[in-house]
Amino acid sequence: MFEALQAPAPDKIMALAEAFRADDRPGKLDLGVGVYKDAEGRTPILRAVKEAERRLLESQETKTYLGPAGDAAFCAAMVDLVFGADAARDRIAAVQTPGGTGACRLLTELAARAERGATMWFSDPTWPNHHAIARQVGLGFRSYRYFDPATCEVDWEGMKADLRDAGPGDVVVLHGCCHNPTGANLDADMWRELAALALDRGFTPFVDIAYQGFGDGLEADAEGLRIMAAAVPEMLVAASCSKNFAVYRDRVGCAMALCGAPAAKGAAQETMKALARVNHSMPPDHGAAAVRTVLEDPGLRADWEAELSAMRARMLSVRERLAESLQRRTNSDRFAFIARHRGMFSLLGVSDDVVEKARADHAVYVVSGGRINIAGLNDETVETLTAALAASGA
Ligand code: LMR
Repeated sequence: MFEALQAPAPDKIMALAEAFRADDRPGKLDLGVGVYKDAEGRTPILRAVKEAERRLLESQETKTYLGPAGDAAFCAAMVDLVFGADAARDRIAAVQTPGGTGACRLLTELAARAERGATMWFSDPTWPNHHAIARQVGLGFRSYRYFDPATCEVDWEGMKADLRDAGPGDVVVLHGCCHNPTGANLDADMWRELAALALDRGFTPFVDIAYQGFGDGLEADAEGLRIMAAAVPEMLVAASCSKNFAVYRDRVGCAMALCGAPAAKGAAQETMKALARVNHSMPPDHGAAAVRTVLEDPGLRADWEAELSAMRARMLSVRERLAESLQRRTNSDRFAFIARHRGMFSLLGVSDDVVEKARADHAVYVVSGGRINIAGLNDETVETLTAALAASGA
């Protein structure tokens, strides 16, 4: 039966990571997959997570099943982290998932269960797996304008105009912060307007928040999502701990559904559990247990927040240096937006020819479309990148 299979086109981020691994040129530079690196190019286990793991190793007495919803205390801690002190806990169903991707998949399936003909709306551009998941679940999708290539900022008027076409039964996917791949973000006033638009048009917002704490801070990065949650009756939220807890391979995420009324929460929770059961039965425990331990312990939490602040500060300083270096090399201000963008990525607004030349001639790996991982740079490699871009025709 397998001879009938046709190999699908590979996910471009995963394909780039593979090409990078296979490249044996010295000094190659990986600005592809979204993994935080320190100035020495390492992705260390966070101190707070390591300490939580040590405590778990000593105290954990069993590895028996947790059940399809995962660790209830982890989910409660995630609801607090994401929705904040004013979280409408009696309206929020939540299950632990294998990573943020698992949450995106489960919530897309939840939307499909609730509304057979739901249309998903994605920003143009978005994380490529959003489209792939909608396709796999069998939902149609549309794009809304998001990024203005002329300014490398949000095309706010275009976005609003396109979303006026969305209506009841449609699910509009928004990046909670640190937009992937562009780095261009909505401000609080824009979120307020979007919330009013959601109410007016009747669509359901679906916030994917995979980088909370990487933009302007844990609270600031959740502000838009919280504005939306306070305004709309229903909303979906996919959260990832891969980046902000650096537990990438442990697969830690949380799928949350804000329901219109407390009475609707039970059915949403049971449906999410049933979807988990047929997908992966139960999520992996270890990483989520470590995250829960950090979030519940004031000392560990303070240490984690300090580590997260240091990661954020490093990315902000790389942004400044990169913008400055590009200004120097191109003798223009056209890359000033890099310092205004937030999060792990920026879309550079350069052509795929430039991206291809940078890889072929300079071993600099940038995702097609021109997305770079800011955290893959340090003072020295900022110059490697900008020299490669300038020499490649940027
Ligand atoms: C990325 O966009 O590079 C990350 O979210 C990793 C992934 O799974 O694609």
